Order: sequence, then structure tokens, then C-alpha cells
Amino acid sequence: MTIEEKIGQLVQRMGGRSKALNSRLGPDELAKVRRGEVGSYLHVAGAEPLRELQRVAVEESRLGIPLLFAMDVVHGYRTIFPVPIAMAASWDPAAAREHAVIAARESSAAGLHWTFAPMVDISRDPRWGRIVEGAGEDAYLGSRMAEAQVRGFQGESLSAADTIMAGTKHFGAYGAAEGGRDYAGADIGERAMQEVYLPPFRAAAEAGSASYMTAFNAVDGVPTTANAALLRTILREEWGWNGVLLSDWRAVEELLAHGVAASRSEAAALALRASVDMDMVADVYADDLEAAIAADPALEALLDQAVLRILAVKRDLGLFDDPYKYHDTAREAAVMLAPEHRAAAQLIAERSIVLLKNEAGTLPLARDTGRIALIGALADDPMSQLGSWRARGQVEDVVTLRAALEAAHPDVVYAPGADSRSDDPGGIEAAVAAARGADVIVLAIGEDYDWSGEARSRSSLELPGRQMELFEALAATGKPLVVVLMGGRPLAVPDIAGQADAVLATWLLGIEAGPAIVNTLLGGNNPGGKLPASYPRSTGQVPVHYDHLPSGRPADPDLSKDTARYMDQPITPLYAFGHGLSYTTFDYGEATLSSSRIPADGGSVTVTVPVTNTGTRAGDEVVQLYMRDPVASVSRPVMQLRGFSRVTLQPGQTREVVFTLSSDQFALWSRDGSWLIEPGAIDLMIGSASDAIRARASFEIVGSAKGSIAPAAIATRIQIEGGE
Ligand code: GLC
Repeated sequence: MTIEEKIGQLVQRMGGRSKALNSRLGPDELAKVRRGEVGSYLHVAGAEPLRELQRVAVEESRLGIPLLFAMDVVHGYRTIFPVPIAMAASWDPAAAREHAVIAARESSAAGLHWTFAPMVDISRDPRWGRIVEGAGEDAYLGSRMAEAQVRGFQGESLSAADTIMAGTKHFGAYGAAEGGRDYAGADIGERAMQEVYLPPFRAAAEAGSASYMTAFNAVDGVPTTANAALLRTILREEWGWNGVLLSDWRAVEELLAHGVAASRSEAAALALRASVDMDMVADVYADDLEAAIAADPALEALLDQAVLRILAVKRDLGLFDDPYKYHDTAREAAVMLAPEHRAAAQLIAERSIVLLKNEAGTLPLARDTGRIALIGALADDPMSQLGSWRARGQVEDVVTLRAALEAAHPDVVYAPGADSRSDDPGGIEAAVAAARGADVIVLAIGEDYDWSGEARSRSSLELPGRQMELFEALAATGKPLVVVLMGGRPLAVPDIAGQADAVLATWLLGIEAGPAIVNTLLGGNNPGGKLPASYPRSTGQVPVHYDHLPSGRPADPDLSKDTARYMDQPITPLYAFGHGLSYTTFDYGEATLSSSRIPADGGSVTVTVPVTNTGTRAGDEVVQLYMRDPVASVSRPVMQLRGFSRVTLQPGQTREVVFTLSSDQFALWSRDGSWLIEPGAIDLMIGSASDAIRARASFEIVGSAKGSIAPAAIATRIQIEGGE
């Protein structure tokens, strides 16, 4: 390979725009392909157009190296599933995996080899708009959702025609951006990096993620895309990961704006030294890497390493054996929006719904409910249910809440009332009039799709527009009021929590949003979702996350005491991490341990807890296991999730949830920078939410030992026993 051909493999170019795919594949672009100057394209799709593009590369360039075709298939390709934070609210990794299997089936049929997903950035600040794309605030839950999606996208073999390469993103600590402002730097300690932000990436690596994408932001002043300590040392050398590392959009060029490179060739050298293999659309590698190599010939060895990693994934995808295997137009037509895909979308949407409040059994609505006043622009907004990464999702594929309710119930009046975009209160009066004539109000409020996602950070977590005015006016009617809270982030809605009779968090649920919500409102689905991120009482309470440190003066409800709290807010979030109600009730028995002492080296402990459905209808309970290390060499969080299982229980049924944990799941990132299992007590807490602990047990670790990998990245073994 000439140096130009080597560099060409490191170049990813736009084949179009996200809203105009394939629109930039004219003669000049194809000439680049023929000269071997391109390794990959994004913003392209379609079995036929990509067959032709691949043909040019394979049959009309000197080396005939196939191209990689990529897209952000983040929660579905044509069948659009709930946004990722919603899928995390299902606490059902199998659902997340199933979505990814379907997304891979559809996108590979459209000629794609590579998705830029899963997004696994942990976020503890819902002002950050991209919290919608991840799995919320917790490293353990985030790790389970990350590995599930990698396995779903990649299947058993990357060379299969219906699997695609995962592009786990955005490596580093993108979600720790200061103030929740997108792209802002993160100032976090090494322990937070190792214990909170990196575990989902480690879990993805353990699941075989074939590629990663770097984060835009700097951590402790070092831009991730130039961070050799993070990328080459931790990811590649310490973790032993040797896949393809892609920059984010123009992130190599942005090293100049970060102020760590004075020229494009310096930026090229920094990124290559950090082991970034491919430059997304900045053309810094294309135009300036050769000069960097001329200035420092040692870089050519790093170039060769990058080329080999890129050629290896092309081999693993089977592209050298059959570069046209992903271009079967018949398969493309057959799989898109297949009925079983749409059915899966509704089921996953139903499992993503969280019942936040249900006063006096307001929900499910009685079958003989009379007139329902459905209020709110979001109830009739199909675009929003597609979320901010809609790939090839189509508005006409979406069944809205309005369409589904009108189809399911004989007497529905609809009024938009107010929306999340305008300051016009003009629709409130008509909405109140509609409500006065109804037996129950169902109010859809929150944020439309464009209030969250990339570059959509907000300084306020209050409802945008005049929606709170609409809510207050409807609450004043005295009618039973059910709020369907939509959007891509936790919102500060204390007045809704206080005044509504029932509140469902439905996020943005994809093409089957309407049927999923209506089936829940009418009782066909018993909601079993749990919050993957805390809901704050106010914007000022952020960051508020369940696994905080105790401080020397742990927060106390008693204001006369000087403790770690705000004086003008209660010390708890509005709704806690792991919170979610059901239309039935559950009881927990005593937790029993397999042993009261385990060796640090190679030990394990089993904790068993019986859970009973004490209500009159079947339901799912997400049984959550938390740990605390009360005394250690560093201050430890008041609790940390270390296991969960979503269990379906019939009325009166009891089943035992058995958690088995190895001693390395209790390690901490020590002061000398390694995983260390320390001697001493470990407290276990099992319950229905982080603020609803129903059983406790403690055991002791004897001795010390080295840990293995980030504890949150290790999946706890779970068995469900009895109650068949
Ligand atoms: C965007 C996003 C990244 C996405 C990429 C390509 O800026 O940060 O998540 O994969 O560009 O669309």
C-alpha cells in the first residue's frame, strides 16, 4: 500500500447529510474512491445505491479494498423503538438486545455494516440533552444495557449478513460535561472515571464491541480524541482491546479549538498517537497526516497499526469474501417494518413505561369510563415519538397517543391545549372546556423530541412553553387527572407530582407509542418500568443521584442540624433512581445469605430474597440489589446497584430471586490506582427502588485481594426459583 492508500483507509467521509442520505456521491466523490482515498462513509443507506458505491471501490480502485458504510442506528433503523433512556427504564436487557437484533436486521439489509451505537455515557445531570441517548445515571444498569445492545447488534458473528458492527460511544466521560452543557469539559476524579463513567465501556468491550467512538469533550483538560492515556493505555493496553477507534464528528479538527494543537498536522499526530484509527469527516488525516509523518517518521508505524485494525474489521465483516452480501434488495424490502418488528416495538415500549404516581387506583381507567378528554400537543405529535436519532424512521409509521386512544375508546375529545414549543396560551381555554365535559382528563405534556439530544442542553428542567399553565387550569377543574409525561430526560415537575391523580413517564416510545400508552391506561399492560435516572425537585437540586457520598455530615431532614443539603429543598429527589409503581403490590421476605464471611480472593456470596405478588393482578417487579461498603480506605457511596431482575408474578405467587456475587464485585478503585478488594463488612439492601429498601443483610470480606475489572461492569448471576 502506498502511504496515500494507507491514509485513505483512515478517512470517513459524508456520503450525504442525515436528512439527505447518499446526496454527496457525485463524480468527484467517486473519483476519490477510485484513488483509494476513502475507507468509510456515513450518512448513506440503501442496498442498491451502496452496492454501486461498493462496486466502484472493489472493482475500480487499485487495491479493491471494500468500504465501510455507517449510520447512527441508535434505537432502530426503520422500526423505531423507544429512545434509549426509555429502554433503560424497562430494566430489561433482553428487550434492549432484541431491539438491537431487529435494528441490525433492518440496517444490514439496507447495506450498512456499522452503527454508531450503543451510546453508553453515564449522565447524572439531566440538563445534558444527550441523557436521552444513554441508560441514565448508574454504571451497573448502564453496563447491562451496553453489553445487551452490543450482543444484539453484533450477534454471534460480524460476518453474518444480518448483523452489524457496534460503535460504542462516546468513549470517556462525555456525560460528565460541566453544568450539563454539551461538549463542555469534565472535571472528575480518577475514581469517578473508573467506577462510574468507564464501566459501561468495559462491559461493551467484554461483550465484544468491535469499535468505539471518542467523546468530544476534554477530561481534566485533555481532549478525549488526543488522550493517549485514556485511549491507548487504558482502552487498548490495559483492557486488551484492539478494535477500531473512530473520532466523533470533526473531533480531530476540534483539537485546534481545544487549544492543544496549533495546526491540523499537529492535530493529526495527536489523534494518531492516541490511537484514533479513523477521522470522521474532518479530513485532517486525509489532508494533513502525511505532513505529520514527514515531520515524525515514527508515526508511520502507528499508521500501519491503524490500517491493520481497519482492514481486520472489514475482514471480520466478511467484506473481503463477499463485498456485496449486504446488498440484497429483496431482503431489504422484506424486513423493513416487518409485523414482528412492530410487535416487538410495542412490547418494548410497554415495558419502558414507568408509573410514577397512582393515587387511589386512578389507573387503570375503568372499562366503563365515559368521556376522556385527551389534552396536549404531544398526544398528537408523531415526529416526537421518533426521538432525535430517527435513522430511517418515518412519521407515517408512528401511531400517536391520540390515534390509539380514539381507536380504543368510544368517547374521546381532543384539544392540543399548549405545546412545548410556543408561548401561546391560546389553546388552554378550549382545553379546559373540553375537560369540563369529560369524566377523566388524560394530559400529555413534557418535551418534544427536539428539546433533548445533541446540543440540546437546557438550563431549566421545568416544563417548556405554557404547559404548566395548562396543567394548573386542568387541575382546577377537579376532574380526575392523569398526566402522561413525555420527553427525553427527567423533569422537575413537583406540582404535577403533587396535584395529578396519576403520572406515567412514557419518554418518547417510538412507532408504537400510542398503543403502548393506551394499553397501559386501560389496563392491558401493567407498567413495570423503573427510573434509570433520578427526577429532581428543581433544576437547582442537580446533580442529584442516588449513589452519592455520605460526606462528613450526611444530609438530615432536620433543618436545625448543619448537614450536606439545601436549606430550601427536602433532601430527597422528586422521584428516586429505581422508582416505579405497579397496578399490583409486592411483598419482600427476609434476605438470606449463603455465608456471613467470604474470602477476598476468589470468594462469592449468594443472597436470596422471596418476593410475593400480594395484589389481584399479574405484574412485574424489578427486584434491585444494592451494596454499601460502610468503612473503607476511601469514602464509599451510600449505596451502589449490584444486581436487578425484572420478575413477573401472578397474584399470590412467590418466587425467590437468587443473586450470586463474586468478591471482585465489591472492589473499589484504590488510592494507588488499582482495583482492590478490602476486608470488612458489606451491607446489602434489596428493594423495589433505591429509596424503597425492603430487605437487608450483611456479610464480611476476609483479607484483601486484587480486583479484576470495574465491579459495575461485572454482571451478577441471577436465578429465579420457585413459584412455577
Ligand atoms: C454526532 C454525534 C455522534 C454521531 C456522529 C455521527 O456529532 O456526537 O454521536 O454518531 O456525530 O452522526
